[in-house]
Amino acid sequence: MINHLQDTITLNNGLQMPGMGLGVFQVENDATADIVKNAIEVGYRSIDTAAIYGNEAGVGEGIKQALASTGLQREDLFITSKVWNAGLSYEETIAAYDESLAKLGLDYLDLYLIHWPGKDKYAESWKALEDLYEQGKIKAIGVCNFNVSHLQNLLSFARIKPVLNQVEFHPRLQQAELRAFCEQHQIQLEAWAPLMQGGLLEDETISKIATKYGKSTAQVILRWDVQNGVITIPKSVRKERMVQNADIFDFSLTDEEMAIINAMNLEQRVGPNPDEFDFVL
Ligand SMILES: NC(=O)c1ccc[n+]([C@@H]2O[C@H](COP(=O)([O-])OP(=O)(O)OC[C@H]3O[C@@H](n4cnc5c(N)ncnc54)[C@H](OP(=O)(O)O)[C@@H]3O)[C@@H](O)[C@H]2O)c1
Repeated sequence: MINHLQDTITLNNGLQMPGMGLGVFQVENDATADIVKNAIEVGYRSIDTAAIYGNEAGVGEGIKQALASTGLQREDLFITSKVWNAGLSYEETIAAYDESLAKLGLDYLDLYLIHWPGKDKYAESWKALEDLYEQGKIKAIGVCNFNVSHLQNLLSFARIKPVLNQVEFHPRLQQAELRAFCEQHQIQLEAWAPLMQGGLLEDETISKIATKYGKSTAQVILRWDVQNGVITIPKSVRKERMVQNADIFDFSLTDEEMAIINAMNLEQRVGPNPDEFDFVL
């Protein structure tokens, strides 16, 4: 279990990934550089973006500024992006990777993910990711939003196993079967929408636990992620919330409190169900 914002989890290829990072979904490109710079300055080392977020250039600018202001090196950071549904052929995936790198102003990514499985489009894209990985252009490759059936299919032909699966995960959507499958196959689970995109912040059960520790509901949820061994990437554009979200290493939830939150599952999504989601923007 991680004990600090910068502590890492070892992925199945040996790469160390911070157990907590900053997500930048729905952040305007123009605002992104300042946000990413703030995040790195307050101690975040992992940033999660995607081609479809339209803010990779802003992320890249924020990284550049933060490296200058902190004296950190590129290698101290862990940068993730994702290939979008619109172009999952082999050639399109390679081109998308090059485009993401160019926008970010980087010469490698730590982690590159297939954003959604679609119906059956990911096989070619995965081959492209494997080739990029074998050429040393990416430190690790993985997937998002893969259900058990997608993973079973992927594992039937993959030369390289995904290091992680980034899925919607929060107290209302705990995906027990998927979690168990990932654990069994050494595929790390990473939570998107860990705060249910704000939808759980007024929850009474979590508030009660939060009051006991003098913490916020957001902090209790993120602590629950950490104690579950799930990598988490809460998004906030506000520096004080970035700091708050990372201030979760001075208390522990008891087994009983973990069980209370575990019992909140309703298999309720805020995002699309991967089995039905196949659209192209
Ligand atoms: N792979 C995928 O398909 C996928 C899909 C969705 C998201 N993601 C990734 O996962 C990341 C996180 O998910 P998300 O952005 O959808 O939702 P989230 O992190 O669950 O929630 C973000 C919302 O919570 C608010 N918030 C953050 N910290 C808070 C705090 N301490 N107190 C009160 N409010 C707080 C934010 O507002 P402010 O910004 O105003 O603070 C924002 O409205 C994304 O940014 C993205 O990187 C991936």
